[in-house]
Amino acid sequence: MKAKVQFLWTVFLSLVLQTGLGYAIKWLALSKTPSVLALNQTQHCKQLEGLVSSQVQLCRSNLELMQTIVQAAREAMKTCRKAFSDMRWNCSSIERAPNYLLDLERGTRESAFVYALSAAAISHTIARACTTGDLPGCSCGPVPGETPGPGYRWGGCADNLNYGLLMGAKFSDAPMKVKKTGSQANKLMHLHNSEVGRQALRASLEMKCKCHGVSGSCSIKTCWKGLQELRDVAQDLKTKYLSATKVVHRPMGNRKHLVPKDLDIRPVQDTELIYLQSSPDFCMKNEKVGSHGTQDRQCNKTSNGSDSCDLMCCGRGYNPYMDKVVERCHCKYHWCCYVTCKKCERIVERYVCK
Ligand SMILES: *[C@@H]1O[C@H](CO)[C@@H](O)[C@H](O)[C@H]1NC(C)=O
Ligand SMILES: *[C@@H]1O[C@H](CO)[C@@H](O)[C@H](O)[C@H]1NC(C)=O
Ligand SMILES: *[C@@H]1O[C@H](CO)[C@@H](O)[C@H](O)[C@H]1NC(C)=O
Ligand SMILES: *[C@@H]1O[C@H](CO)[C@@H](O)[C@H](O)[C@H]1NC(C)=O
Repeated sequence: MKAKVQFLWTVFLSLVLQTGLGYAIKWLALSKTPSVLALNQTQHCKQLEGLVSSQVQLCRSNLELMQTIVQAAREAMKTCRKAFSDMRWNCSSIERAPNYLLDLERGTRESAFVYALSAAAISHTIARACTTGDLPGCSCGPVPGETPGPGYRWGGCADNLNYGLLMGAKFSDAPMKVKKTGSQANKLMHLHNSEVGRQALRASLEMKCKCHGVSGSCSIKTCWKGLQELRDVAQDLKTKYLSATKVVHRPMGNRKHLVPKDLDIRPVQDTELIYLQSSPDFCMKNEKVGSHGTQDRQCNKTSNGSDSCDLMCCGRGYNPYMDKVVERCHCKYHWCCYVTCKKCERIVERYVCK
């Protein structure tokens, strides 16, 4: 009897996992593409993991973009883990792509962040790659229409944001355009959050300048529009994650829309992340709700933020342990021109959650 229940649960879980909501970020599995795969022949597209058939088509017709998209998947994962390293949910489960666990298979706030970040990452990486001249489909972004202010002129090579947004959206939104996959509510949510990610990327465009003139006097400056680093965009999205809005799928007029659950008078705003399912507090391990728990996570005794032992360990307490750090020390400057250092060991106390 118990075995049968176990079996049915397994079948249920695998059905959830196959048809689950994480389907549209499965392309992040491209991060595992072996670097020996040259990706210069259309038959390579079928060997890539995590792509839906329309993405395989895009791969065939835009083969030269694929190395950049593989790199975008790597950037998205690395940036997510970094941005959430001080949180109970630390994004490490993104490594499981394309076989996500329930934290990213459900319509949670965490998945909202990952969709937004992935959409931003792919457009960011393509927009940047355009400036290297390696992509046949694009080059530097256009010179801004506005006349330059006093003291500078337009020059340099701008990130090609428009091309990045166009091709990035085509590729990363493709799974959500497939009919018959996933529920309408989930598709709307994922498309919305992906657009929020691209909006945050647009907002990160800033003026970058280089000085010229006699010995760097900066009497002449050339400036262009460049994107901030992806980690900065991720910080912006993390703020949106913390204030994300829970929505419900409700009929309005003759169509169903996603509207804020609590204040259903106000429409969803273009800049806010939305989610359909509440997350657990991630304190205890519970795979049925996608919580990995914080036991054995490192915490910071002197911090008062989310990585403090109090918050990270959910009040369960923590255990100290001694850690050895190796540092450069007793550095000496030698005329001319090098520095030698010794290696010193220092014992520091660290803490992990009970
Ligand atoms: C693809 O790249 C590999 C390795 O760089 C090279 O040996 C091969 O000739 C290339 N094939 C084509 C069709 O360009
Ligand atoms: C992230 O959280 C998981 C689950 O609690 C843990 O196993 C992992 O070590 C954590 N990673 C980091 C870098 O703290
Ligand atoms: C702990 O937090 C404090 C205050 O935010 C910070 O200065 C310190 O570098 C942190 N320590 C570690 C080990 O992260
Ligand atoms: C942490 O403490 C500092 C200084 O007391 C304070 O300025 C800051 O707002 C606190 N941060 C949090 C998250 O409570």
